[in-house]
Amino acid sequence: MGAQANPLRHLGTVACGAFWLLAATGVVLYAVLDTSVQGAWTSIEALHDAPLHAGQLLRGLHRYAADLLVLATLAHLLREWLHAHERGARRYTWLTGVPLIAFAAASGVGGFWLNWDQLGQYSAMATAAWVDALPLLSSPLSRNFLDAAAVGDRLFSLFVFVHLGVPLLMLFGLWFHVQRLSRAAVLPPRPLAVALAAALAAAALLWPVVSHPPALAGAEPAVLRLDWVLLLVHPLTEATSPAAVWALVLGGAVLLFVLPFLPQPPRPPVAEVAPQACNGCTRCVDDCPYAAITMVPHPNQRIGRQLAVVDADLCVGCGICAGACPSGTPFRSAGALVNGIDLPGLTVDALRSLLRGRLAAARDLQPVVVFGCAHGARLPVGRDVVAMALPCAAQLPPSFVEYALRDGAGAVVVAACRESGCEFRLGERITAERLHARREPHLRLQHLPAGRVVLAHAGAGDEAVVAAAVQRLRAGVRTEAAS
Ligand code: HEM
Ligand code: SF4
Ligand code: SF4
Repeated sequence: MGAQANPLRHLGTVACGAFWLLAATGVVLYAVLDTSVQGAWTSIEALHDAPLHAGQLLRGLHRYAADLLVLATLAHLLREWLHAHERGARRYTWLTGVPLIAFAAASGVGGFWLNWDQLGQYSAMATAAWVDALPLLSSPLSRNFLDAAAVGDRLFSLFVFVHLGVPLLMLFGLWFHVQRLSRAAVLPPRPLAVALAAALAAAALLWPVVSHPPALAGAEPAVLRLDWVLLLVHPLTEATSPAAVWALVLGGAVLLFVLPFLPQPPRPPVAEVAPQACNGCTRCVDDCPYAAITMVPHPNQRIGRQLAVVDADLCVGCGICAGACPSGTPFRSAGALVNGIDLPGLTVDALRSLLRGRLAAARDLQPVVVFGCAHGARLPVGRDVVAMALPCAAQLPPSFVEYALRDGAGAVVVAACRESGCEFRLGERITAERLHARREPHLRLQHLPAGRVVLAHAGAGDEAVVAAAVQRLRAGVRTEAAS
């Protein structure tokens, strides 16, 4: 599929895209909906008379986008959990995600009521009976549905209010959810957005959403065609009991809220600023994927007007900022290399010493240096390979590539994660932009011998991709040495 069209790499944004589509189609549906008990069913039914299947398309897009929203949200949750993203600095993003599931589920169920057909009626009654199982209300909710007169336009207005109000809450919640992420994408990449919109439109035309007969108070519907994604709660309640489903829902919610607070491995060390080496250029602020860096007035105005400051609570320890800092060039000083911002566990100075030592040991072999990522493919070993795993490939200041080539390396492979597959959201993209001179600090391509540097996209398990890049470069180096 390619990274841009693979939904598994963009589940949060797919859910977001479904939300926008729901909002857009919902506004049009609301314009045609007669919000009265008597008129609702007829006004929705009239959609099917619209020319060119426009009404059918509108209704189908709205329904299937709601299915997509719920499925993508659950898959997004599962993926983030499998990547242990409930922990550490991401805790806030996790915790603000949990209520979004409830909002998506509540507005999904409530949408069926607005049509006021037998399925909507069944769903409203089943929900009321389910809510009544909690000892919260003095008079049971389900009493409102006992006879035809009880379901008046006022109750119906409440349905409308819920179906419009909950998505607004969701929008608000979504804003909180992405607050601590910089440059959060709120739409899937274009190829994926087009493919999903086309798939939803095809589903809307191939499997039209049709109403059940109009609601009839007191009458049991003979046949129900359930939406098993949005209305699963009802058959589940019937197969078990309201109390069992409440236990499942509340237990699940408690578990999701508690997960981030369970004992966890120690957090990686967070980035630290060296004020004497920070000139206030703000590159680290631009590149930090977790909005963990802010600028304050520099205490020493001769060095710079502003100084970077790291919020330790937000920092995930990826090191992308270290790779952004102009002070991190290894050519700069013969003594200790002080970067403006650095990871205490692996400073840019330590990286340079390590590289120098390893290159010195293998210089006569013209080794291929591989800068990789601890979350990506395992790096190759060999006498003529110098492999260095960083927390993220974007921790590498690009000048290190040139430095390695001048210090005896035959060639350099930078192995970043798969496209859109970075553990730290933006690392592989930033690495590619720096190496292709589309972002500062950039690799000085004109200073490099041709064909000696390769950027490989290799996630965990993609060892063969890195090995192939190393082999290709080594063959090139040998041919050049022989000629
Ligand atoms: C309607 C539901 C949801 C929507 C629309 C949504 C959307 C998003 C978006 C757009 C991002 C940023 C993607 C990026 O640019 O990298 C994101 C990140 C994230 N979401 Fe959600 N989300 C939803 C529900 C959830 C839920 C239920 C959870 C977990 C309980 C969750 C956990 C996370 C986490 C941990 C991240 C940060 C990932 C990282 O740091 O790499 N989200 N979400
Ligand atoms: S290591 Fe740097 S780039 Fe990464 S989250 Fe911390 S401050 Fe941001
Ligand atoms: S990139 Fe370096 S010099 Fe620029 S603001 Fe950040 S720490 Fe300071």
